[in-house]
Amino acid sequence: METRVLVVDDEESILEAVTDILEDEGFQVAAAPDGRAAILSIRDSLPSVVLLDIWMPEMDGIETLRRIKEEWPFLPVVIMSGHGTIETAVRATKLGAYDFIEKPLSYEQLIMALKNAIRFYEMQEENALLRQKVGAPKEITGKSEVITQLKRQIEVVAPTDAWVLIRGENGTGKELVAQTIHRMSKRRLRPMIDVNCAAIPEELIESELFGHEKGAFTGASTMKRGKFDLANGGTLFLDEIADMSLRTQAKILRILQEQRFERVGGSKTIKVDVRILAATNKDLEKEIEKGRFREDLYYRLNVIPIEVPPLRERKEDIPLLVDEFLEEFSIKLGMPKKTIDNDALNALMGYDWPGNVRELRNFVERLVILTPDNIIKHEALPRPFHKPDNKAVLSKEIEELFACNDFKQARTMFEKEYLIRKLKEFDGNITRTSEAIGIERRHLHRKIKSLSISVEAA
Ligand SMILES: Nc1ncnc2c1ncn2[C@@H]1O[C@H](COP(=O)(O)OP(=O)(O)OP(=O)(O)O)[C@@H](O)[C@H]1O
Ligand SMILES: [Mg+2]
Repeated sequence: METRVLVVDDEESILEAVTDILEDEGFQVAAAPDGRAAILSIRDSLPSVVLLDIWMPEMDGIETLRRIKEEWPFLPVVIMSGHGTIETAVRATKLGAYDFIEKPLSYEQLIMALKNAIRFYEMQEENALLRQKVGAPKEITGKSEVITQLKRQIEVVAPTDAWVLIRGENGTGKELVAQTIHRMSKRRLRPMIDVNCAAIPEELIESELFGHEKGAFTGASTMKRGKFDLANGGTLFLDEIADMSLRTQAKILRILQEQRFERVGGSKTIKVDVRILAATNKDLEKEIEKGRFREDLYYRLNVIPIEVPPLRERKEDIPLLVDEFLEEFSIKLGMPKKTIDNDALNALMGYDWPGNVRELRNFVERLVILTPDNIIKHEALPRPFHKPDNKAVLSKEIEELFACNDFKQARTMFEKEYLIRKLKEFDGNITRTSEAIGIERRHLHRKIKSLSISVEAA
Protein backbone atom coordinates (compact mmCIF):
# COMPACT_ATOMS: atom_id res chain seq x y z
CA MET A 1 0.00 0.00 0.00
CA GLU A 2 1.20 3.49 -0.80
CA THR A 3 1.90 5.53 2.31
CA ARG A 4 1.70 9.27 1.95
CA VAL A 5 3.26 11.66 4.42
CA LEU A 6 2.34 15.33 4.47
CA VAL A 7 5.19 17.46 5.84
CA VAL A 8 4.25 20.93 7.08
CA ASP A 9 7.02 23.39 7.89
CA ASP A 10 7.72 27.05 7.04
CA GLU A 11 11.45 26.45 6.74
CA GLU A 12 12.26 25.47 3.19
CA SER A 13 15.52 23.73 4.13
CA ILE A 14 13.72 21.44 6.55
CA LEU A 15 10.99 20.64 4.04
CA GLU A 16 13.59 19.67 1.48
CA ALA A 17 15.75 17.61 3.83
CA VAL A 18 12.82 15.72 5.32
CA THR A 19 11.29 15.10 1.89
CA ASP A 20 14.55 13.58 0.65
CA ILE A 21 14.89 11.29 3.61
CA LEU A 22 11.31 10.10 3.56
CA GLU A 23 11.42 9.47 -0.18
CA ASP A 24 14.57 7.41 0.34
CA GLU A 25 12.59 5.39 2.88
CA GLY A 26 9.96 4.70 0.24
CA PHE A 27 7.26 7.12 1.39
CA GLN A 28 5.31 9.32 -0.96
CA VAL A 29 5.74 12.87 0.28
CA ALA A 30 3.64 16.02 -0.03
CA ALA A 31 4.97 19.28 1.39
CA ALA A 32 3.12 22.36 2.68
CA PRO A 33 4.76 25.62 3.83
CA ASP A 34 1.99 26.60 6.25
CA GLY A 35 -1.19 25.47 8.00
CA ARG A 36 -3.60 26.71 5.38
CA ALA A 37 -1.76 24.92 2.57
CA ALA A 38 -1.70 21.81 4.77
CA ILE A 39 -5.50 21.78 5.14
CA LEU A 40 -5.94 22.23 1.38
CA SER A 41 -3.47 19.45 0.68
CA ILE A 42 -5.29 17.04 3.02
CA ARG A 43 -8.58 17.88 1.39
CA ASP A 44 -7.08 17.22 -1.99
CA SER A 45 -5.60 13.90 -1.09
CA LEU A 46 -5.71 12.30 2.31
CA PRO A 47 -2.26 11.34 3.62
CA SER A 48 -1.56 8.42 5.96
CA VAL A 49 0.14 10.70 8.45
CA VAL A 50 0.97 14.41 8.93
CA LEU A 51 4.32 15.65 10.17
CA LEU A 52 3.63 19.09 11.57
CA ASP A 53 5.91 21.91 12.73
CA ILE A 54 4.69 23.87 15.76
CA TRP A 55 6.24 27.30 15.17
CA MET A 56 4.89 28.78 11.97
CA PRO A 57 3.77 32.27 11.03
CA GLU A 58 0.05 32.99 10.64
CA MET A 59 -1.75 29.76 11.53
CA ASP A 60 0.59 28.06 14.00
CA GLY A 61 0.99 24.32 14.47
CA ILE A 62 -1.39 24.03 17.42
CA GLU A 63 -4.17 25.80 15.53
CA THR A 64 -3.48 23.68 12.44
CA LEU A 65 -3.59 20.55 14.56
CA ARG A 66 -6.93 21.62 16.03
CA ARG A 67 -8.42 22.09 12.58
CA ILE A 68 -7.05 18.83 11.24
CA LYS A 69 -8.47 16.92 14.20
CA GLU A 70 -11.81 18.63 13.80
CA GLU A 71 -12.19 17.55 10.22
CA TRP A 72 -10.19 14.30 10.18
CA PRO A 73 -10.24 12.96 13.74
CA PHE A 74 -8.62 9.67 12.77
CA LEU A 75 -5.69 11.15 10.85
CA PRO A 76 -2.51 10.72 12.92
CA VAL A 77 -0.37 13.83 13.36
CA VAL A 78 3.22 13.81 14.54
CA ILE A 79 4.33 17.16 15.93
CA MET A 80 7.88 18.50 15.60
CA SER A 81 9.16 21.39 17.56
CA GLY A 82 12.43 23.20 17.93
CA HIS A 83 11.62 24.29 21.43
CA GLY A 84 10.55 21.24 23.29
CA THR A 85 8.50 22.93 25.94
CA ILE A 86 6.46 20.58 28.03
CA GLU A 87 3.53 22.93 27.80
CA THR A 88 3.32 22.71 24.00
CA ALA A 89 3.68 18.97 24.11
CA VAL A 90 0.84 18.70 26.59
CA ARG A 91 -1.42 20.93 24.54
CA ALA A 92 -0.65 19.02 21.36
CA THR A 93 -1.33 15.71 23.05
CA LYS A 94 -4.60 16.98 24.42
CA LEU A 95 -5.62 18.02 20.94
CA GLY A 96 -4.95 14.50 19.75
CA ALA A 97 -1.41 14.56 18.37
CA TYR A 98 -0.17 11.03 17.97
CA ASP A 99 3.46 11.72 18.83
CA PHE A 100 5.89 14.53 19.52
CA ILE A 101 9.49 14.77 18.32
CA GLU A 102 12.10 17.42 18.93
CA LYS A 103 14.24 19.39 16.52
CA PRO A 104 17.01 18.94 15.57
CA LEU A 105 15.45 15.83 14.15
CA SER A 106 16.96 12.42 14.67
CA TYR A 107 16.06 10.76 11.41
CA GLU A 108 15.80 7.34 12.99
CA GLN A 109 13.37 8.67 15.54
CA LEU A 110 11.45 10.47 12.86
CA ILE A 111 11.02 7.36 10.70
CA MET A 112 10.06 5.31 13.74
CA ALA A 113 7.44 7.83 14.85
CA LEU A 114 5.92 7.99 11.36
CA LYS A 115 5.85 4.23 10.95
CA ASN A 116 4.16 3.80 14.31
CA ALA A 117 1.61 6.44 13.47
CA ILE A 118 0.84 4.81 10.12
CA ARG A 119 0.50 1.39 11.69
CA PHE A 120 -1.91 2.90 14.20
CA TYR A 121 -3.91 4.46 11.41
CA GLU A 122 -4.16 1.17 9.52
CA MET A 123 -5.27 -0.59 12.66
CA GLN A 124 -8.06 1.90 13.13
CA GLU A 125 -9.20 1.26 9.59
CA GLU A 126 -9.06 -2.49 10.07
CA ASN A 127 -11.02 -2.22 13.28
CA ALA A 128 -13.70 -0.10 11.67
CA LEU A 129 -14.07 -2.64 8.88
CA LEU A 130 -14.22 -5.45 11.37
CA ARG A 131 -16.81 -3.63 13.45
CA GLN A 132 -19.03 -3.36 10.40
CA LYS A 133 -18.82 -7.09 9.92
CA VAL A 134 -19.87 -7.91 13.47
CA GLY A 135 -23.44 -6.83 12.99
CA ALA A 136 -23.91 -9.04 9.95
CA PRO A 137 -25.68 -12.37 10.42
CA LYS A 138 -23.39 -15.27 11.11
CA GLU A 139 -22.58 -17.52 8.19
CA ILE A 140 -21.87 -21.21 8.33
CA THR A 141 -18.12 -21.31 7.89
CA GLY A 142 -16.49 -24.19 6.07
CA LYS A 143 -15.47 -25.50 2.67
CA SER A 144 -15.19 -29.21 3.43
CA GLU A 145 -17.23 -31.69 1.44
CA VAL A 146 -19.56 -32.40 4.38
CA ILE A 147 -20.24 -28.73 5.09
CA THR A 148 -20.75 -27.95 1.42
CA GLN A 149 -23.34 -30.71 1.34
CA LEU A 150 -24.99 -29.34 4.45
CA LYS A 151 -25.22 -25.87 2.93
CA ARG A 152 -26.69 -27.29 -0.24
CA GLN A 153 -29.29 -29.15 1.78
CA ILE A 154 -30.18 -25.99 3.66
CA GLU A 155 -30.59 -24.05 0.42
CA VAL A 156 -33.06 -26.61 -0.84
CA VAL A 157 -35.02 -26.98 2.37
CA ALA A 158 -35.10 -23.39 3.64
CA PRO A 159 -37.56 -21.86 1.13
CA THR A 160 -40.09 -24.66 1.63
CA ASP A 161 -42.29 -24.69 4.69
CA ALA A 162 -41.16 -28.18 5.61
CA TRP A 163 -40.38 -29.07 9.19
CA VAL A 164 -36.78 -29.96 9.86
CA LEU A 165 -35.15 -32.05 12.54
CA ILE A 166 -31.55 -30.98 13.03
CA ARG A 167 -29.27 -33.55 14.60
CA GLY A 168 -25.66 -33.47 15.67
CA GLU A 169 -23.29 -33.67 18.60
CA ASN A 170 -22.83 -30.87 21.13
CA GLY A 171 -21.50 -27.66 19.71
CA THR A 172 -21.58 -28.70 16.05
CA GLY A 173 -23.71 -25.71 15.03
CA LYS A 174 -27.30 -26.94 15.17
CA GLU A 175 -28.63 -23.61 16.32
CA LEU A 176 -26.66 -21.84 13.62
CA VAL A 177 -28.24 -24.17 11.05
CA ALA A 178 -31.72 -23.34 12.39
CA GLN A 179 -30.98 -19.60 12.17
CA THR A 180 -29.70 -20.01 8.63
CA ILE A 181 -32.79 -21.93 7.54
CA HIS A 182 -35.03 -19.24 8.99
CA ARG A 183 -33.01 -16.44 7.42
CA MET A 184 -33.24 -18.09 3.99
CA SER A 185 -36.94 -18.84 4.29
CA LYS A 186 -39.88 -16.74 3.17
CA ARG A 187 -40.64 -16.22 6.87
CA ARG A 188 -37.41 -14.30 7.41
CA LEU A 189 -39.17 -11.00 8.10
CA ARG A 190 -41.08 -12.61 10.94
CA PRO A 191 -39.34 -13.75 14.11
CA MET A 192 -37.71 -17.04 14.88
CA ILE A 193 -38.58 -17.88 18.46
CA ASP A 194 -36.32 -20.21 20.46
CA VAL A 195 -37.62 -22.66 22.97
CA ASN A 196 -34.95 -24.45 24.94
CA CYS A 197 -36.89 -27.46 26.11
CA ALA A 198 -34.14 -28.50 28.51
CA ALA A 199 -34.08 -25.16 30.29
CA ILE A 200 -37.77 -24.63 31.00
CA PRO A 201 -39.09 -26.30 34.16
CA GLU A 202 -41.90 -28.76 33.56
CA GLU A 203 -44.50 -26.75 35.46
CA LEU A 204 -43.83 -23.62 33.41
CA ILE A 205 -43.62 -25.09 29.97
CA GLU A 206 -47.29 -24.75 29.10
CA SER A 207 -47.45 -21.15 30.07
CA GLU A 208 -44.16 -20.54 28.22
CA LEU A 209 -45.39 -22.13 25.04
CA PHE A 210 -49.05 -21.11 25.02
CA GLY A 211 -49.09 -18.09 27.28
CA HIS A 212 -51.68 -17.44 29.96
CA GLU A 213 -54.62 -15.21 30.65
CA LYS A 214 -54.64 -12.66 33.41
CA GLY A 215 -55.41 -14.36 36.71
CA ALA A 216 -54.85 -17.87 35.31
CA PHE A 217 -52.79 -18.76 38.37
CA THR A 218 -51.22 -17.05 41.35
CA GLY A 219 -48.75 -14.53 40.07
CA ALA A 220 -50.34 -14.23 36.61
CA SER A 221 -51.17 -10.58 37.07
CA THR A 222 -51.24 -9.79 33.35
CA MET A 223 -51.96 -11.68 30.17
CA LYS A 224 -48.83 -13.14 28.64
CA ARG A 225 -48.40 -14.35 25.10
CA GLY A 226 -46.68 -17.68 24.67
CA LYS A 227 -43.91 -18.59 22.27
CA PHE A 228 -46.32 -20.17 19.79
CA ASP A 229 -48.15 -16.89 19.67
CA LEU A 230 -45.00 -14.83 19.27
CA ALA A 231 -43.75 -17.07 16.47
CA ASN A 232 -46.95 -16.67 14.48
CA GLY A 233 -46.09 -16.26 10.82
CA GLY A 234 -42.50 -17.13 11.62
CA THR A 235 -40.50 -20.06 12.91
CA LEU A 236 -40.52 -21.86 16.23
CA PHE A 237 -37.21 -23.48 17.09
CA LEU A 238 -37.62 -26.32 19.57
CA ASP A 239 -34.11 -26.87 20.84
CA GLU A 240 -33.05 -29.95 22.87
CA ILE A 241 -36.32 -31.59 21.95
CA ALA A 242 -35.40 -34.89 23.63
CA ASP A 243 -35.42 -33.19 27.02
CA MET A 244 -39.14 -32.56 26.96
CA SER A 245 -41.22 -34.66 29.33
CA LEU A 246 -43.59 -37.25 27.87
CA ARG A 247 -46.54 -35.24 29.11
CA THR A 248 -45.42 -32.11 27.31
CA GLN A 249 -44.61 -34.15 24.22
CA ALA A 250 -48.20 -35.37 24.11
CA LYS A 251 -49.55 -31.88 24.50
CA ILE A 252 -47.27 -30.35 21.95
CA LEU A 253 -47.94 -33.05 19.38
CA ARG A 254 -51.59 -32.17 19.29
CA ILE A 255 -50.88 -28.47 18.96
CA LEU A 256 -48.25 -28.96 16.32
CA GLN A 257 -50.77 -30.86 14.25
CA GLU A 258 -53.69 -28.52 14.74
CA GLN A 259 -51.74 -25.25 14.95
CA ARG A 260 -54.32 -24.04 17.41
CA PHE A 261 -54.31 -23.81 21.18
CA GLU A 262 -55.72 -22.04 24.19
CA ARG A 263 -53.79 -19.91 26.63
CA VAL A 264 -53.52 -21.29 30.14
CA GLY A 265 -56.65 -20.19 32.00
CA GLY A 266 -58.33 -19.07 28.78
CA SER A 267 -61.02 -20.49 26.57
CA LYS A 268 -60.41 -18.59 23.38
CA THR A 269 -58.79 -20.73 20.67
CA ILE A 270 -55.83 -19.10 19.02
CA LYS A 271 -54.94 -20.18 15.50
CA VAL A 272 -51.34 -19.81 14.40
CA ASP A 273 -49.16 -20.53 11.43
CA VAL A 274 -45.69 -21.56 12.57
CA ARG A 275 -42.95 -23.54 10.96
CA ILE A 276 -41.25 -25.94 13.32
CA LEU A 277 -37.53 -26.56 13.41
CA ALA A 278 -36.33 -28.94 16.10
CA ALA A 279 -32.86 -29.92 17.26
CA THR A 280 -31.33 -32.62 19.42
CA ASN A 281 -27.97 -34.16 20.21
CA LYS A 282 -29.58 -37.36 21.47
CA ASP A 283 -30.16 -40.57 19.63
CA LEU A 284 -33.93 -40.26 19.27
CA GLU A 285 -34.40 -43.81 17.98
CA LYS A 286 -32.83 -45.09 21.19
CA GLU A 287 -34.93 -42.70 23.25
CA ILE A 288 -38.03 -44.12 21.57
CA GLU A 289 -36.90 -47.68 22.32
CA LYS A 290 -36.47 -46.76 25.95
CA GLY A 291 -39.90 -45.19 26.03
CA ARG A 292 -38.62 -41.69 26.66
CA PHE A 293 -39.64 -40.15 23.37
CA ARG A 294 -42.96 -40.45 21.55
CA GLU A 295 -42.70 -42.18 18.24
CA ASP A 296 -45.58 -40.20 16.72
CA LEU A 297 -43.92 -36.91 17.66
CA TYR A 298 -40.68 -38.15 16.17
CA TYR A 299 -42.34 -38.84 12.82
CA ARG A 300 -44.13 -35.53 12.93
CA LEU A 301 -40.92 -33.55 13.51
CA ASN A 302 -38.60 -35.60 11.36
CA VAL A 303 -40.05 -34.56 8.02
CA ILE A 304 -36.64 -33.55 6.79
CA PRO A 305 -33.64 -34.75 8.77
CA ILE A 306 -30.46 -32.70 8.67
CA GLU A 307 -27.28 -34.06 10.20
CA VAL A 308 -24.64 -31.55 11.30
CA PRO A 309 -21.23 -33.27 11.08
CA PRO A 310 -18.79 -33.29 14.01
CA LEU A 311 -15.71 -31.12 13.62
CA ARG A 312 -13.34 -34.12 13.56
CA GLU A 313 -14.92 -35.16 10.26
CA ARG A 314 -14.11 -31.84 8.66
CA LYS A 315 -10.75 -30.88 10.09
CA GLU A 316 -9.85 -29.05 6.89
CA ASP A 317 -12.29 -26.36 8.03
CA ILE A 318 -10.33 -25.68 11.22
CA PRO A 319 -8.07 -22.98 9.70
CA LEU A 320 -11.09 -21.04 8.40
CA LEU A 321 -12.90 -21.31 11.72
CA VAL A 322 -9.82 -20.34 13.71
CA ASP A 323 -9.35 -17.30 11.50
CA GLU A 324 -12.96 -16.28 11.98
CA PHE A 325 -12.78 -16.64 15.76
CA LEU A 326 -9.44 -14.81 15.97
CA GLU A 327 -11.10 -11.92 14.19
CA GLU A 328 -14.22 -12.07 16.33
CA PHE A 329 -12.41 -12.06 19.66
CA SER A 330 -9.73 -9.59 18.66
CA ILE A 331 -12.50 -7.11 17.88
CA LYS A 332 -14.37 -7.90 21.05
CA LEU A 333 -11.25 -7.23 23.07
CA GLY A 334 -10.43 -4.10 21.07
CA MET A 335 -7.07 -5.30 19.83
CA PRO A 336 -5.59 -5.69 16.36
CA LYS A 337 -6.36 -9.02 14.76
CA LYS A 338 -4.10 -11.81 15.96
CA THR A 339 -2.82 -14.47 13.61
CA ILE A 340 -1.65 -18.00 14.20
CA ASP A 341 1.42 -19.67 12.75
CA ASN A 342 1.34 -22.91 10.77
CA ASP A 343 2.82 -25.13 13.46
CA ALA A 344 0.18 -24.05 15.92
CA LEU A 345 -2.56 -24.51 13.35
CA ASN A 346 -1.31 -28.00 12.55
CA ALA A 347 -1.41 -28.87 16.23
CA LEU A 348 -5.04 -27.69 16.42
CA MET A 349 -5.87 -29.79 13.37
CA GLY A 350 -4.36 -32.82 15.06
CA TYR A 351 -6.90 -32.67 17.86
CA ASP A 352 -10.34 -34.26 17.72
CA TRP A 353 -12.43 -31.50 19.40
CA PRO A 354 -15.05 -33.58 21.21
CA GLY A 355 -16.88 -30.33 22.04
CA ASN A 356 -16.81 -29.44 18.34
CA VAL A 357 -17.00 -25.87 17.06
CA ARG A 358 -18.02 -24.49 20.44
CA GLU A 359 -14.93 -25.99 22.07
CA LEU A 360 -12.73 -24.60 19.30
CA ARG A 361 -14.33 -21.18 19.64
CA ASN A 362 -13.86 -21.06 23.42
CA PHE A 363 -10.30 -22.25 22.96
CA VAL A 364 -9.50 -19.47 20.49
CA GLU A 365 -11.05 -16.92 22.83
CA ARG A 366 -8.71 -18.03 25.61
CA LEU A 367 -5.75 -17.89 23.24
CA VAL A 368 -6.56 -14.34 22.16
CA ILE A 369 -6.84 -13.23 25.77
CA LEU A 370 -3.80 -15.05 27.09
CA THR A 371 -1.29 -14.62 24.27
CA PRO A 372 0.47 -11.25 24.47
CA ASP A 373 2.02 -11.56 20.98
CA ASN A 374 0.12 -10.68 17.84
CA ILE A 375 1.19 -13.96 16.30
CA ILE A 376 0.12 -17.04 18.17
CA LYS A 377 2.96 -19.51 17.97
CA HIS A 378 3.03 -23.20 18.70
CA GLU A 379 4.73 -22.61 22.06
CA ALA A 380 1.81 -20.45 23.16
CA LEU A 381 -0.56 -23.40 23.00
CA PRO A 382 -1.28 -25.28 26.21
CA ARG A 383 0.63 -28.50 26.92
CA PRO A 384 -1.50 -31.12 25.19
CA PHE A 385 -0.77 -29.46 21.87
CA HIS A 386 3.00 -29.42 22.32
CA LYS A 387 4.09 -32.78 21.02
CA PRO A 388 1.74 -33.63 18.22
CA ASP A 389 3.44 -36.97 17.56
CA ASN A 390 3.64 -38.03 21.18
CA LYS A 391 0.29 -39.73 20.93
CA ALA A 392 1.32 -41.85 17.99
CA VAL A 393 4.53 -43.00 19.68
CA LEU A 394 2.75 -43.75 22.89
CA SER A 395 -0.03 -45.67 21.26
CA LYS A 396 2.41 -47.93 19.43
CA GLU A 397 4.01 -48.91 22.72
CA ILE A 398 0.68 -49.31 24.40
CA GLU A 399 -0.41 -51.56 21.59
CA GLU A 400 2.64 -53.74 22.13
CA LEU A 401 1.85 -53.78 25.79
CA PHE A 402 -1.66 -54.97 25.16
CA ALA A 403 -0.49 -57.56 22.69
CA CYS A 404 1.44 -59.21 25.50
CA ASN A 405 -0.55 -62.04 27.05
CA ASP A 406 1.59 -62.53 30.12
CA PHE A 407 0.56 -60.22 32.97
CA LYS A 408 3.91 -60.26 34.71
CA GLN A 409 5.80 -59.56 31.53
CA ALA A 410 3.40 -56.73 30.59
CA ARG A 411 3.92 -55.17 34.00
CA THR A 412 7.66 -55.38 33.60
CA MET A 413 7.43 -53.82 30.14
CA PHE A 414 5.35 -51.01 31.51
CA GLU A 415 7.62 -50.34 34.48
CA LYS A 416 10.68 -50.24 32.27
CA GLU A 417 9.16 -47.89 29.70
CA TYR A 418 7.73 -45.68 32.41
CA LEU A 419 10.98 -45.36 34.31
CA ILE A 420 13.00 -44.69 31.15
CA ARG A 421 10.64 -41.86 30.30
CA LYS A 422 10.62 -40.40 33.79
CA LEU A 423 14.39 -40.58 34.11
CA LYS A 424 14.70 -38.82 30.79
CA GLU A 425 12.34 -36.12 31.98
CA PHE A 426 14.61 -35.46 34.98
CA ASP A 427 17.88 -35.69 33.04
CA GLY A 428 18.73 -39.06 34.57
CA ASN A 429 18.77 -37.58 38.07
CA ILE A 430 17.71 -40.44 40.34
CA THR A 431 16.95 -38.38 43.41
CA ARG A 432 14.66 -35.99 41.57
CA THR A 433 12.98 -38.76 39.63
CA SER A 434 12.28 -40.76 42.76
CA GLU A 435 10.81 -37.71 44.47
CA ALA A 436 8.68 -36.87 41.46
CA ILE A 437 7.13 -40.31 41.10
CA GLY A 438 6.88 -40.98 44.80
CA ILE A 439 9.08 -43.98 45.36
CA GLU A 440 12.13 -44.29 47.53
CA ARG A 441 15.48 -43.57 45.99
CA ARG A 442 16.84 -46.98 46.99
CA HIS A 443 13.86 -48.67 45.53
CA LEU A 444 14.32 -46.80 42.24
CA HIS A 445 17.97 -47.88 42.19
CA ARG A 446 16.96 -51.50 42.58
CA LYS A 447 14.41 -51.20 39.81
CA ILE A 448 16.91 -49.65 37.45
CA LYS A 449 19.22 -52.56 38.09
CA SER A 450 16.69 -55.32 37.90
CA LEU A 451 15.14 -53.93 34.70
CA SER A 452 18.65 -53.33 33.31
CA ILE A 453 17.90 -49.71 32.46
CA SER A 454 21.00 -47.78 31.56
CA VAL A 455 20.65 -44.35 33.08
CA GLU A 456 22.83 -42.89 30.35
CA ALA A 457 20.48 -44.19 27.70
CA ALA A 458 17.58 -42.74 29.61
N1 LIG B 1 -19.88 -23.73 10.72
C1 LIG B 1 -19.74 -22.78 11.64
N2 LIG B 1 -19.19 -21.60 11.32
C2 LIG B 1 -19.02 -20.66 12.25
N3 LIG B 1 -19.37 -20.77 13.52
C3 LIG B 1 -19.94 -21.91 13.92
C4 LIG B 1 -20.16 -22.97 13.00
N4 LIG B 1 -20.74 -23.97 13.66
C5 LIG B 1 -20.88 -23.57 14.93
N5 LIG B 1 -20.41 -22.32 15.09
C6 LIG B 1 -20.36 -21.58 16.36
O1 LIG B 1 -20.10 -22.52 17.40
C7 LIG B 1 -20.90 -22.26 18.54
C8 LIG B 1 -21.80 -23.43 18.82
O2 LIG B 1 -22.79 -23.53 17.80
P1 LIG B 1 -24.32 -23.86 18.11
O3 LIG B 1 -24.77 -23.22 19.38
O4 LIG B 1 -25.08 -23.60 16.88
O5 LIG B 1 -24.15 -25.44 18.33
P2 LIG B 1 -25.23 -26.49 18.82
O6 LIG B 1 -25.04 -27.67 17.95
O7 LIG B 1 -26.56 -25.87 18.92
O8 LIG B 1 -24.66 -26.83 20.26
P3 LIG B 1 -25.43 -27.54 21.51
O9 LIG B 1 -25.65 -28.96 21.11
O10 LIG B 1 -24.41 -27.45 22.61
O11 LIG B 1 -26.67 -26.78 21.74
C9 LIG B 1 -21.65 -20.99 18.23
O12 LIG B 1 -20.93 -19.90 18.74
C10 LIG B 1 -21.68 -20.96 16.72
O13 LIG B 1 -21.81 -19.65 16.25
MG1 LIG C 1 -27.80 -25.64 20.60
